[in-house]
Amino acid sequence: MLPLILSIESSCDDTSAAVMQGKLLLSNVVASQQVHKQYGGVVPELASRAHLQNIVPVVHQALAQAGVKKEDLNAVAFTRGPGLMGSLLVGTSFAKSFAQALGLPLIDVNHLQAHILANFIDEKDAENKHPEFPFLCLLVSGGNSQIVLVRSPRDMEIIGQTIDDAAGEAFDKCAKVMGFPYPGGPIIDRLAKVGNSKAFTLAKPQIKDLDYSFSGLKTSFLYLLRDKIKENPNFIEENKEDLCASLQHTVVSILMNKFAKAVKMHPEVKDIAIAGGVSANSGLRDEFTEFGQRRHLNVFIPKLAFTMDNAAMIGAAAYYKYLDKDFCSVDLPPFARVEI
Ligand code: KG4
Repeated sequence: MLPLILSIESSCDDTSAAVMQGKLLLSNVVASQQVHKQYGGVVPELASRAHLQNIVPVVHQALAQAGVKKEDLNAVAFTRGPGLMGSLLVGTSFAKSFAQALGLPLIDVNHLQAHILANFIDEKDAENKHPEFPFLCLLVSGGNSQIVLVRSPRDMEIIGQTIDDAAGEAFDKCAKVMGFPYPGGPIIDRLAKVGNSKAFTLAKPQIKDLDYSFSGLKTSFLYLLRDKIKENPNFIEENKEDLCASLQHTVVSILMNKFAKAVKMHPEVKDIAIAGGVSANSGLRDEFTEFGQRRHLNVFIPKLAFTMDNAAMIGAAAYYKYLDKDFCSVDLPPFARVEI
């Protein structure tokens, strides 16, 4: 019988709980915090407080939707890091007390590995195709932009990463200077669909090896707006679709150029995947799919619900640790910063 695992995710501003049987998803409940919208970014203290309010109802709902009683569970998993310390503390403390009260083993999960393993979540009545190892994954979120060589569910190597901002940060910060609310990434995606991606030329960084940089792009976008607004105070409003399309096109081509280089360096790889919040971007999804088709590679793109922070991906990662009986003790502290 495959294990029933309750998993908890609370690394940033989403409180989530999932119940899985092995890798089969039974429920995945996410409470997204709206409180940060008015501040233009996530406010750590407010995030911790909202997690405190959300965690019990979210877990309750996840168990009810799965039709699972807490006594039937075989393990409890939680995100150990990376993330905001206060947010992580809520999820880890809850998971530890819940597991202890029920006498269940605890499994700590690396949030970044879990984003990648979102590509392995099984769902009822779905095709459930997953990448074969080794594969290359482009992991792009609000805090990370990495190219990862995935040798097995528990053996991953970062072969390229951003030296400054992440791709999601570039989207969010550029959106903020255009006056859009947080998070700006999805708004840019929506407006880009009806804009001209060649309308404006933005800086592309020249960074060595497989690393990324997005801070120059952000500055170049800011200077473009500053110069154009001097000539026309309504410039942003009149050009927002073209601005978004040009920005998105530039971010996607920066991401894909390095990823193409990584693929060339790893001819043993036949499968490629994307993961993380920015992998919801429609421009990136299209470009990634076309790239895979051109190179005769099998392309794996998670369902939209599994690109954002969610506990189902924590459950998928926890399952592989459960198979190895790799449990943790209740005194394991969360980590704000931790690599794959
Ligand atoms: O993975 P995630 O939910 O949180 C982190 O762990 O960082 O990613 C959030 C990031 C934000 O920067 C958000 O703007 C971006 O993902 N994002 C998008 C889209 N949906 C979310 N960026 C571009 N296009 C989207 N459709």
